[in-house]
Amino acid sequence: MPQTVRGVIARSKGAPVELTDIVIPDPGPGEVVVAIAACGVCHTDLTYREGGINDEFPFLLGHEAAGTVESVGEGVDSVQPGDYVVLNWRAVCGQCRACKRGRPQYCFSTFNATQKMTLTDGTELTPALGIGAFADKTLVHAGQCTKVDPAADPAVAGLLGCGVMAGLGAAVNTGAVSRGDSVAVIGCGGVGDAAIAGARLAGANKIIAVDRDAKKLEWATELGATHTVNATETEVVEAVQALTGGFGADVVIDAVGRPETWKQAFYARDLAGTVVLVGVPTPDMRLEMPLLDFFSRGGALKSSWYGDCLPERDFPVLVDLYLQGRLPLDKFVTERIGLDDVEKAFHTMHAGEVLRSVVVW
Ligand SMILES: NC(=O)c1ccc[n+]([C@@H]2O[C@H](COP(=O)([O-])OP(=O)(O)OC[C@H]3O[C@@H](n4cnc5c(N)ncnc54)[C@H](O)[C@@H]3O)[C@@H](O)[C@H]2O)c1
Ligand SMILES: [Zn+2]
Ligand SMILES: [Zn+2]
Repeated sequence: MPQTVRGVIARSKGAPVELTDIVIPDPGPGEVVVAIAACGVCHTDLTYREGGINDEFPFLLGHEAAGTVESVGEGVDSVQPGDYVVLNWRAVCGQCRACKRGRPQYCFSTFNATQKMTLTDGTELTPALGIGAFADKTLVHAGQCTKVDPAADPAVAGLLGCGVMAGLGAAVNTGAVSRGDSVAVIGCGGVGDAAIAGARLAGANKIIAVDRDAKKLEWATELGATHTVNATETEVVEAVQALTGGFGADVVIDAVGRPETWKQAFYARDLAGTVVLVGVPTPDMRLEMPLLDFFSRGGALKSSWYGDCLPERDFPVLVDLYLQGRLPLDKFVTERIGLDDVEKAFHTMHAGEVLRSVVVW
Protein backbone atom coordinates (compact mmCIF):
# COMPACT_ATOMS: atom_id res chain seq x y z
CA MET A 1 0.00 0.00 0.00
CA PRO A 2 1.37 3.45 -0.88
CA GLN A 3 1.95 5.47 2.27
CA THR A 4 1.52 9.15 3.02
CA VAL A 5 4.36 10.78 4.96
CA ARG A 6 5.71 14.29 5.51
CA GLY A 7 8.24 15.79 3.10
CA VAL A 8 9.88 19.16 2.39
CA ILE A 9 9.22 20.37 -1.14
CA ALA A 10 10.22 23.35 -3.28
CA ARG A 11 7.09 24.11 -5.28
CA SER A 12 8.37 26.92 -7.47
CA LYS A 13 11.52 28.89 -8.18
CA GLY A 14 12.74 30.89 -5.19
CA ALA A 15 9.60 30.31 -3.08
CA PRO A 16 10.15 29.22 0.53
CA VAL A 17 10.09 25.46 1.00
CA GLU A 18 6.96 23.76 2.37
CA LEU A 19 6.45 20.81 4.68
CA THR A 20 3.61 18.83 3.16
CA ASP A 21 2.15 15.35 2.69
CA ILE A 22 3.77 13.17 0.03
CA VAL A 23 2.93 9.70 -1.22
CA ILE A 24 5.55 6.94 -1.29
CA PRO A 25 4.70 3.95 -3.51
CA ASP A 26 5.55 0.41 -2.48
CA PRO A 27 9.02 -0.48 -3.73
CA GLY A 28 9.00 -1.97 -7.23
CA PRO A 29 11.70 -4.20 -8.72
CA GLY A 30 15.15 -2.97 -7.63
CA GLU A 31 13.66 -0.34 -5.34
CA VAL A 32 13.82 0.24 -1.59
CA VAL A 33 11.84 2.35 0.89
CA VAL A 34 14.08 3.85 3.57
CA ALA A 35 12.90 5.40 6.85
CA ILE A 36 15.11 8.48 7.23
CA ALA A 37 16.92 9.04 10.54
CA ALA A 38 18.93 12.16 9.61
CA CYS A 39 19.51 14.38 6.57
CA GLY A 40 21.99 17.24 6.21
CA VAL A 41 21.14 20.55 4.54
CA CYS A 42 23.43 21.00 1.53
CA HIS A 43 24.00 24.00 -0.71
CA THR A 44 22.68 21.95 -3.62
CA ASP A 45 19.21 21.79 -2.00
CA LEU A 46 19.14 25.56 -2.05
CA THR A 47 20.37 25.56 -5.66
CA TYR A 48 17.42 23.29 -6.57
CA ARG A 49 15.02 25.69 -4.87
CA GLU A 50 16.58 28.62 -6.76
CA GLY A 51 15.98 26.81 -10.06
CA GLY A 52 19.76 26.51 -10.57
CA ILE A 53 19.72 22.77 -11.41
CA ASN A 54 16.67 22.42 -13.66
CA ASP A 55 13.00 23.42 -13.89
CA GLU A 56 11.44 20.12 -12.87
CA PHE A 57 9.47 21.57 -9.94
CA PRO A 58 8.18 20.51 -7.47
CA PHE A 59 11.34 19.09 -5.93
CA LEU A 60 11.45 16.85 -2.90
CA LEU A 61 14.59 18.20 -1.26
CA GLY A 62 17.26 16.56 0.93
CA HIS A 63 20.00 14.13 -0.11
CA GLU A 64 22.64 13.73 2.64
CA ALA A 65 20.94 11.02 4.61
CA ALA A 66 21.15 7.90 6.71
CA GLY A 67 18.28 5.67 7.74
CA THR A 68 16.88 2.19 8.01
CA VAL A 69 15.59 0.05 5.17
CA GLU A 70 11.86 -0.46 5.66
CA SER A 71 10.90 -2.60 2.67
CA VAL A 72 12.51 -3.87 -0.51
CA GLY A 73 11.11 -4.64 -3.96
CA GLU A 74 11.46 -7.70 -6.13
CA GLY A 75 14.99 -8.84 -6.87
CA VAL A 76 16.69 -6.75 -4.18
CA ASP A 77 19.25 -8.79 -2.30
CA SER A 78 21.93 -6.24 -1.42
CA VAL A 79 19.92 -4.89 1.52
CA GLN A 80 17.01 -6.10 3.64
CA PRO A 81 14.52 -4.53 6.05
CA GLY A 82 16.26 -3.31 9.20
CA ASP A 83 19.62 -2.58 7.52
CA TYR A 84 21.25 0.71 8.52
CA VAL A 85 22.28 2.54 5.34
CA VAL A 86 23.76 5.77 4.02
CA LEU A 87 22.10 6.94 0.80
CA ASN A 88 24.16 7.87 -2.26
CA TRP A 89 23.34 9.67 -5.51
CA ARG A 90 25.66 7.73 -7.78
CA ALA A 91 24.52 4.12 -7.77
CA VAL A 92 26.91 2.56 -10.26
CA CYS A 93 25.24 0.70 -13.18
CA GLY A 94 28.01 -1.73 -14.05
CA GLN A 95 27.00 -1.65 -17.74
CA CYS A 96 27.85 1.75 -19.24
CA ARG A 97 31.05 2.49 -21.18
CA ALA A 98 32.79 3.93 -18.09
CA CYS A 99 31.85 0.95 -15.89
CA LYS A 100 32.88 -1.52 -18.58
CA ARG A 101 36.30 0.07 -18.83
CA GLY A 102 36.86 -0.38 -15.10
CA ARG A 103 36.13 3.22 -14.13
CA PRO A 104 32.87 2.85 -12.21
CA GLN A 105 33.50 6.07 -10.27
CA TYR A 106 32.68 7.90 -13.51
CA CYS A 107 29.57 5.78 -14.25
CA PHE A 108 27.59 7.67 -16.93
CA SER A 109 24.28 5.94 -16.24
CA THR A 110 23.72 5.85 -12.48
CA PHE A 111 20.56 4.28 -11.05
CA ASN A 112 17.58 5.94 -9.34
CA ALA A 113 14.15 4.60 -8.41
CA THR A 114 11.91 4.12 -11.46
CA GLN A 115 8.59 4.97 -9.79
CA LYS A 116 7.76 8.52 -8.79
CA MET A 117 6.87 9.84 -5.37
CA THR A 118 3.95 12.28 -5.62
CA LEU A 119 1.94 14.93 -3.83
CA THR A 120 -1.44 13.70 -2.55
CA ASP A 121 -3.10 15.14 -5.71
CA GLY A 122 -0.87 12.92 -7.87
CA THR A 123 1.63 15.60 -8.96
CA GLU A 124 4.96 13.86 -9.55
CA LEU A 125 7.89 15.00 -7.43
CA THR A 126 11.51 15.29 -8.57
CA PRO A 127 13.67 14.04 -5.72
CA ALA A 128 16.85 16.09 -5.23
CA LEU A 129 19.76 14.09 -6.69
CA GLY A 130 17.41 11.15 -7.02
CA ILE A 131 17.05 10.88 -3.23
CA GLY A 132 14.57 13.32 -1.60
CA ALA A 133 15.32 12.64 2.05
CA PHE A 134 13.80 15.64 3.85
CA ALA A 135 10.93 13.21 4.35
CA ASP A 136 9.94 10.62 6.91
CA LYS A 137 10.55 7.99 4.22
CA THR A 138 11.84 7.97 0.68
CA LEU A 139 11.98 5.65 -2.33
CA VAL A 140 15.39 4.95 -3.90
CA HIS A 141 17.17 2.35 -6.02
CA ALA A 142 18.75 -0.47 -4.02
CA GLY A 143 22.18 0.59 -5.33
CA GLN A 144 21.70 3.93 -3.58
CA CYS A 145 21.81 2.20 -0.18
CA THR A 146 25.17 1.39 1.39
CA LYS A 147 25.30 -0.54 4.65
CA VAL A 148 27.54 0.95 7.33
CA ASP A 149 28.23 0.20 11.01
CA PRO A 150 25.01 1.03 12.93
CA ALA A 151 27.12 2.32 15.84
CA ALA A 152 27.62 5.56 13.87
CA ASP A 153 25.27 8.45 14.67
CA PRO A 154 23.02 8.92 11.60
CA ALA A 155 23.48 12.71 11.70
CA VAL A 156 27.19 12.10 11.17
CA ALA A 157 27.11 9.08 8.84
CA GLY A 158 24.50 10.68 6.56
CA LEU A 159 26.86 13.51 5.69
CA LEU A 160 28.97 11.03 3.74
CA GLY A 161 26.02 10.89 1.36
CA CYS A 162 27.08 14.16 -0.29
CA GLY A 163 29.21 17.12 0.77
CA VAL A 164 31.65 15.39 3.10
CA MET A 165 32.31 12.57 0.64
CA ALA A 166 32.62 15.08 -2.22
CA GLY A 167 35.23 17.14 -0.38
CA LEU A 168 37.13 14.27 1.16
CA GLY A 169 37.18 12.40 -2.14
CA ALA A 170 38.24 15.54 -4.04
CA ALA A 171 41.45 15.45 -2.02
CA VAL A 172 42.02 11.71 -1.63
CA ASN A 173 40.57 10.28 -4.85
CA THR A 174 40.54 13.04 -7.50
CA GLY A 175 43.56 15.02 -6.25
CA ALA A 176 45.39 11.83 -5.17
CA VAL A 177 46.90 13.74 -2.27
CA SER A 178 49.61 11.65 -0.68
CA ARG A 179 52.10 11.77 2.17
CA GLY A 180 54.23 14.90 2.11
CA ASP A 181 52.11 16.87 -0.35
CA SER A 182 51.26 20.51 0.11
CA VAL A 183 47.56 21.21 -0.38
CA ALA A 184 45.53 24.41 -0.52
CA VAL A 185 41.74 24.43 -0.23
CA ILE A 186 39.80 27.49 -1.40
CA GLY A 187 36.40 27.76 0.35
CA CYS A 188 36.09 26.12 3.74
CA GLY A 189 32.43 25.19 4.01
CA GLY A 190 31.40 21.60 4.59
CA VAL A 191 32.94 20.50 1.29
CA GLY A 192 36.24 22.37 1.66
CA ASP A 193 36.68 21.30 5.27
CA ALA A 194 36.11 17.70 4.25
CA ALA A 195 38.87 18.14 1.67
CA ILE A 196 41.07 19.40 4.48
CA ALA A 197 40.19 16.39 6.66
CA GLY A 198 40.91 14.13 3.67
CA ALA A 199 44.28 15.79 3.01
CA ARG A 200 45.21 15.24 6.63
CA LEU A 201 44.10 11.60 6.47
CA ALA A 202 46.27 11.13 3.36
CA GLY A 203 49.35 12.57 5.08
CA ALA A 204 49.68 16.01 3.49
CA ASN A 205 52.21 17.93 5.55
CA LYS A 206 51.05 21.42 4.63
CA ILE A 207 47.34 22.15 4.40
CA ILE A 208 46.44 25.75 3.62
CA ALA A 209 42.83 26.82 4.22
CA VAL A 210 41.55 29.83 2.24
CA ASP A 211 38.24 31.53 3.01
CA ARG A 212 36.77 35.01 3.38
CA ASP A 213 35.27 34.24 6.75
CA ALA A 214 37.42 34.13 9.89
CA LYS A 215 35.07 31.68 11.64
CA LYS A 216 35.36 29.24 8.73
CA LEU A 217 39.14 29.44 8.99
CA GLU A 218 38.92 28.55 12.68
CA TRP A 219 36.83 25.48 11.89
CA ALA A 220 39.22 24.56 9.07
CA THR A 221 42.07 24.59 11.57
CA GLU A 222 40.14 22.23 13.85
CA LEU A 223 39.74 19.86 10.91
CA GLY A 224 43.43 19.80 10.04
CA ALA A 225 44.52 23.01 8.27
CA THR A 226 48.09 23.88 9.20
CA HIS A 227 47.90 27.42 7.77
CA THR A 228 45.08 29.85 6.97
CA VAL A 229 44.66 32.64 4.45
CA ASN A 230 41.87 35.19 4.79
CA ALA A 231 40.96 36.08 1.20
CA THR A 232 39.53 39.45 2.25
CA GLU A 233 42.87 40.54 3.69
CA THR A 234 45.50 38.92 1.49
CA GLU A 235 46.13 38.20 -2.18
CA VAL A 236 45.41 34.46 -2.28
CA VAL A 237 47.93 33.31 -4.91
CA GLU A 238 50.81 35.21 -3.31
CA ALA A 239 49.87 33.99 0.15
CA VAL A 240 49.81 30.32 -0.92
CA GLN A 241 53.12 30.75 -2.75
CA ALA A 242 54.68 32.42 0.30
CA LEU A 243 53.63 29.46 2.44
CA THR A 244 55.13 26.94 -0.01
CA GLY A 245 58.67 28.23 -0.52
CA GLY A 246 57.50 30.60 -3.27
CA PHE A 247 56.37 27.73 -5.53
CA GLY A 248 52.69 27.02 -4.90
CA ALA A 249 50.92 23.93 -3.58
CA ASP A 250 51.07 20.46 -5.14
CA VAL A 251 47.27 20.18 -5.12
CA VAL A 252 44.82 23.09 -4.98
CA ILE A 253 41.14 22.35 -4.46
CA ASP A 254 38.49 24.90 -5.47
CA ALA A 255 35.53 24.21 -3.19
CA VAL A 256 33.74 27.43 -4.18
CA GLY A 257 33.38 26.99 -7.94
CA ARG A 258 33.61 30.52 -9.32
CA PRO A 259 35.85 31.79 -12.15
CA GLU A 260 37.91 33.89 -9.73
CA THR A 261 38.49 31.07 -7.24
CA TRP A 262 39.34 28.60 -10.03
CA LYS A 263 41.89 31.08 -11.42
CA GLN A 264 43.39 31.43 -7.96
CA ALA A 265 43.58 27.65 -7.72
CA PHE A 266 45.25 27.48 -11.13
CA TYR A 267 47.97 29.99 -10.28
CA ALA A 268 48.41 29.02 -6.60
CA ARG A 269 49.60 25.61 -7.78
CA ASP A 270 53.21 24.51 -8.23
CA LEU A 271 54.40 23.67 -11.75
CA ALA A 272 52.92 20.32 -12.83
CA GLY A 273 50.57 20.42 -9.84
CA THR A 274 46.91 19.49 -9.79
CA VAL A 275 43.78 21.66 -9.66
CA VAL A 276 40.59 19.99 -8.47
CA LEU A 277 37.26 21.74 -9.08
CA VAL A 278 34.66 20.41 -6.65
CA GLY A 279 32.56 23.58 -6.15
CA VAL A 280 29.79 23.72 -8.74
CA PRO A 281 29.70 26.76 -11.09
CA THR A 282 26.44 28.18 -12.46
CA PRO A 283 25.70 28.11 -16.22
CA ASP A 284 26.43 31.82 -16.69
CA MET A 285 30.05 31.66 -15.48
CA ARG A 286 32.90 32.15 -17.97
CA LEU A 287 36.67 31.93 -17.85
CA GLU A 288 39.14 33.84 -19.99
CA MET A 289 42.82 33.02 -19.63
CA PRO A 290 45.97 32.84 -21.79
CA LEU A 291 46.00 29.36 -23.35
CA LEU A 292 49.78 29.39 -23.09
CA ASP A 293 49.53 29.30 -19.30
CA PHE A 294 47.71 25.97 -19.50
CA PHE A 295 50.60 24.56 -21.49
CA SER A 296 53.53 26.11 -19.74
CA ARG A 297 52.37 25.35 -16.19
CA GLY A 298 51.62 21.71 -17.01
CA GLY A 299 49.99 19.35 -14.55
CA ALA A 300 46.39 18.22 -14.26
CA LEU A 301 43.14 20.18 -14.25
CA LYS A 302 40.41 17.96 -12.88
CA SER A 303 36.81 18.09 -11.78
CA SER A 304 35.47 15.94 -9.00
CA TRP A 305 32.00 14.40 -9.19
CA TYR A 306 31.03 13.30 -5.72
CA GLY A 307 34.70 12.97 -4.82
CA ASP A 308 35.10 10.22 -7.42
CA CYS A 309 33.79 7.96 -4.71
CA LEU A 310 32.50 4.42 -4.85
CA PRO A 311 29.96 4.34 -2.04
CA GLU A 312 30.37 0.60 -1.43
CA ARG A 313 34.13 1.00 -1.16
CA ASP A 314 34.34 4.33 0.66
CA PHE A 315 31.36 4.80 3.03
CA PRO A 316 31.96 1.78 5.32
CA VAL A 317 35.69 2.57 5.63
CA LEU A 318 35.12 6.23 6.43
CA VAL A 319 32.47 5.35 9.02
CA ASP A 320 34.94 2.90 10.60
CA LEU A 321 37.68 5.56 10.69
CA TYR A 322 35.21 7.91 12.34
CA LEU A 323 34.24 5.32 14.96
CA GLN A 324 37.92 4.69 15.66
CA GLY A 325 38.47 8.40 16.32
CA ARG A 326 40.67 8.85 13.24
CA LEU A 327 38.33 11.10 11.22
CA PRO A 328 36.40 13.81 13.09
CA LEU A 329 33.20 13.63 11.01
CA ASP A 330 31.11 14.76 13.98
CA LYS A 331 32.72 18.22 13.75
CA PHE A 332 30.72 18.85 10.57
CA VAL A 333 27.41 18.76 12.46
CA THR A 334 26.96 22.32 13.68
CA GLU A 335 23.29 22.05 14.64
CA ARG A 336 20.46 19.53 14.73
CA ILE A 337 17.08 20.76 13.56
CA GLY A 338 13.55 19.54 12.88
CA LEU A 339 11.96 18.79 9.50
CA ASP A 340 10.08 22.11 9.62
CA ASP A 341 13.32 24.10 10.00
CA VAL A 342 14.80 23.56 6.53
CA GLU A 343 13.89 27.05 5.26
CA LYS A 344 15.51 28.59 8.33
CA ALA A 345 18.57 26.40 7.81
CA PHE A 346 18.97 27.81 4.28
CA HIS A 347 19.27 31.27 5.80
CA THR A 348 21.74 30.08 8.45
CA MET A 349 23.78 28.43 5.70
CA HIS A 350 23.64 31.54 3.54
CA ALA A 351 24.84 33.64 6.47
CA GLY A 352 27.83 31.28 6.82
CA GLU A 353 26.96 30.34 10.39
CA VAL A 354 27.17 26.56 10.00
CA LEU A 355 29.16 23.78 8.38
CA ARG A 356 26.06 21.60 8.34
CA SER A 357 22.57 21.87 9.81
CA VAL A 358 21.23 18.33 10.05
CA VAL A 359 17.55 17.41 10.22
CA VAL A 360 17.11 14.60 12.75
CA TRP A 361 14.07 12.43 13.45
N1 LIG B 1 31.33 18.15 -6.84
C1 LIG B 1 30.41 17.62 -6.09
O1 LIG B 1 30.09 16.44 -6.25
C2 LIG B 1 29.76 18.44 -5.01
C3 LIG B 1 29.00 17.84 -3.99
C4 LIG B 1 28.43 18.66 -3.00
C5 LIG B 1 28.60 20.03 -3.06
N2 LIG B 1 29.32 20.58 -4.06
C6 LIG B 1 29.55 22.03 -4.19
O2 LIG B 1 30.64 22.42 -3.37
C7 LIG B 1 30.54 23.82 -3.11
C8 LIG B 1 30.74 24.10 -1.63
O3 LIG B 1 29.69 23.51 -0.88
P1 LIG B 1 29.56 23.79 0.69
O4 LIG B 1 28.42 22.99 1.16
O5 LIG B 1 30.89 23.65 1.33
O6 LIG B 1 29.13 25.34 0.63
P2 LIG B 1 29.29 26.47 1.76
O7 LIG B 1 28.47 27.60 1.29
O8 LIG B 1 29.06 25.88 3.09
O9 LIG B 1 30.84 26.87 1.70
C9 LIG B 1 31.41 27.72 0.78
C10 LIG B 1 32.57 28.43 1.46
O10 LIG B 1 33.28 29.19 0.50
C11 LIG B 1 33.61 30.45 1.05
N3 LIG B 1 33.78 31.37 -0.06
C12 LIG B 1 32.82 31.89 -0.88
N4 LIG B 1 33.40 32.69 -1.81
C13 LIG B 1 34.73 32.67 -1.57
C14 LIG B 1 35.85 33.28 -2.18
N5 LIG B 1 35.70 34.10 -3.27
N6 LIG B 1 37.08 33.04 -1.69
C15 LIG B 1 37.23 32.22 -0.61
N7 LIG B 1 36.21 31.61 0.02
C16 LIG B 1 34.98 31.82 -0.45
C17 LIG B 1 32.45 30.76 1.97
O11 LIG B 1 32.83 31.70 2.97
C18 LIG B 1 32.14 29.39 2.56
O12 LIG B 1 32.89 29.13 3.74
C19 LIG B 1 29.17 24.25 -3.64
O13 LIG B 1 29.35 24.81 -4.92
C20 LIG B 1 28.41 22.92 -3.76
O14 LIG B 1 27.39 22.97 -4.71
C21 LIG B 1 29.90 19.81 -5.02
ZN1 LIG C 1 27.91 2.71 -15.31
ZN1 LIG D 1 24.79 17.82 -1.43
